[in-house]
Amino acid sequence: SRIVIAIDGFSSTGKSTIAKQLAKHLNYIYVDTGAMYRAVTYFAMENELIGEGFFHSEKLIERLDEIHITFKFNEALGFAEVYLNNKNIEKPIRTLEVSKYVSPIATISEVRQKLVEQQQLMGKDKGIVMDGRDIGTVVFPDAELKIFMTASAKTRAQRRYKELLERGHNLSYDEVLENVTTRDRIDSTREDSPLVKADDAIEIDNSDLTIEEQIKTLLELAES
Ligand code: C5P
Repeated sequence: SRIVIAIDGFSSTGKSTIAKQLAKHLNYIYVDTGAMYRAVTYFAMENELIGEGFFHSEKLIERLDEIHITFKFNEALGFAEVYLNNKNIEKPIRTLEVSKYVSPIATISEVRQKLVEQQQLMGKDKGIVMDGRDIGTVVFPDAELKIFMTASAKTRAQRRYKELLERGHNLSYDEVLENVTTRDRIDSTREDSPLVKADDAIEIDNSDLTIEEQIKTLLELAES
C-alpha cells in the first residue's frame, strides 16, 4: 500500500535528487518543501521585506495571506515546478541571494505554520515523497519511512557549486561553502522545528554512494 516517505537532512546532501527519482520509481508525488520556503523568501525580497541590512518580519507575517504557493508537474522536466501566485518561480528561487535569506525567513513560526499545514494536506492521501528539514519530526511524525541524509560538508559544497555553475550562476566555491554552513547553523539552532534527526529515521551518509546505489537501498526500504 502507498506510504509517506520523509527525507530530511542538511543543505545539499542530495535529498531532492534522490527524492525525485524515488517518487518516479514508486509513481508517487514528490514535494520539495525547501522550494516553498524559498517562495516565501522570494515574495519577501520582491516586496522589500528582506534585503541587505533589513528584515521586516512583522510586515511579512501580516502579508502571509497574499502568498499562494502551488506546484505544477512539468512533463519535460519530470518533476513539479513551484509557482508563487501563478507565476513560475522555479528558476529565480535557486539563486545564492535567495539561499542567503531563506534560513532567516524559515525561523518565523507563522511562516512554518502556514507551510506545514499545506504540506500535511498534500500528503493526506499518502503516496508521497517529501523532502526538507522537519518532515519526519513535524510534518509527518507518523511517516512509514524516514530517511536522514548526511554527507561531508566538502562533498556538499562541491555538489552545490557544480549545480549552480551548471545553471549558469557566476560565483565562487567559497561563497557556496559559506552559504551551506551558515544555513546549516541557522536551521539546526532555530527555536521552532530545528533540524534534527527523528529518533526513528534511518541515517544514510551518501558521500561515497552513487545515485543508483541510494535509490536501490531506498526502494528496498520502501517495499519492506
Ligand atoms: O531544501 P532547500 O535547501 O531548498 O531549503 C532551503 C531552506 O529552507 C533551508 O536551508 C531551510 O532554512 C528552509 N527549510 C526549512 N524546512 C523545510 C525545508 C526547508 O526550514 N522543511
